[in-house]
Amino acid sequence: MNSDWTRRGFIRAASGTAAGLALAPLALGREPVGEGVEYRTLGKTGMRVSVLGFGATGIAGEGVEQDHATILLNQALDNGLNSIDTAPCYLDAEEKIGRAIGHRRDEYFLFSKAGHFGHWGAEPDWSADGIVRVIERSLQRMKTDYLDVAQLHSCSEQALRQGEAIEGLQRAKEQGKIRFVGYSGDDAAARYAVGLDVFDTLMTSISVFDQQAIDLTLPICRQKNIGVIVKRPIGNAVWRYDGAPSNWYHRAYYQRMRELDYGFTEGATAADRGPDGAGGIALRFTAGLEGVHTLVTGTGRIGRWSSNNELLRAGPLDPAQVESIRARWAEVAGDDWIGQI
Ligand SMILES: NC(=O)c1ccc[n+]([C@@H]2O[C@H](COP(=O)([O-])OP(=O)(O)OC[C@H]3O[C@@H](n4cnc5c(N)ncnc54)[C@H](OP(=O)(O)O)[C@@H]3O)[C@@H](O)[C@H]2O)c1
Repeated sequence: MNSDWTRRGFIRAASGTAAGLALAPLALGREPVGEGVEYRTLGKTGMRVSVLGFGATGIAGEGVEQDHATILLNQALDNGLNSIDTAPCYLDAEEKIGRAIGHRRDEYFLFSKAGHFGHWGAEPDWSADGIVRVIERSLQRMKTDYLDVAQLHSCSEQALRQGEAIEGLQRAKEQGKIRFVGYSGDDAAARYAVGLDVFDTLMTSISVFDQQAIDLTLPICRQKNIGVIVKRPIGNAVWRYDGAPSNWYHRAYYQRMRELDYGFTEGATAADRGPDGAGGIALRFTAGLEGVHTLVTGTGRIGRWSSNNELLRAGPLDPAQVESIRARWAEVAGDDWIGQI
């Protein structure tokens, strides 16, 4: 695994940058600068991404004010976040990102998606023109002239085989609107996607409650040096619920948690906010898997990025604990426990 721990002070000293002055932008990114933040190389893209990324669903919608999102994002960037994931169908998340940090564009890698011009659940558009058009709108919304990665958003295997969606990404790349092409999805379609010699990155669900990808796609990604961006990496922290959540999106993980009965999702360990509590164990499990590069954890909470980064600073879990989480999954997971969207 290609990783390092970089101290801001060390980088400043090494590069001769005076404290307090703006840090030099990287070539198409920047040197990692966060204190106590781990960065890894996102496969063949060469981008040095913070292992703890940010997923923008947590700032989407009317429930989160722009000022709140602005503080949350700027504070996380100040502390070393440099990989941000969003999508055109995450309500107003793209606009909020543009307003909050569009002026700091050379300080982060920006991943968005293509295929859903309207809201999630509306008919997707996998035509080449549609892909280019939705990317152009993302650029406007986020006040930028390029995305680092545009990912086909849960594109079916059938649409992948049809080919226009991929053609659209390639056209956008030729036009300089995106730097790399990615696929976001799970199960058989993700397996098909990584088998093609097309995608630079795969975004897929991996957590203690969602382990299919560990055997299905991660080995191929390692072999082909495909960058791996993990979505839902803390499994939506479903131990927070007293009973089955009404939110369908969280329910499958909650039900799996009950059956997996890991122990650490109950009682004092579930309540423990430290690295050996449920949140710490879940994040450290995902981040410790070979071939995983960045975890785009969702949050709407100011300060969560830093506190989660503190959990990751404890390093990978003890191998015996990883082994027991993997063994429990192998014992309990049914064939229908596929990667969740
Ligand atoms: N098809 C796709 O392409 C696709 C699908 C799903 C997700 N995604 C991407 O993946 C990102 C993450 O997905 P997600 O938000 O569903 O899953 P997640 O990151 O596993 O879960 C986020 C939830 O966990 C909570 N949380 C975070 N850290 C915690 C901690 N230490 N202790 C307790 N709770 C904690 C957050 O609450 P707080 O707000 O309180 O921090 C939030 O409710 C999305 O934002 C999106 O970018 C992509």
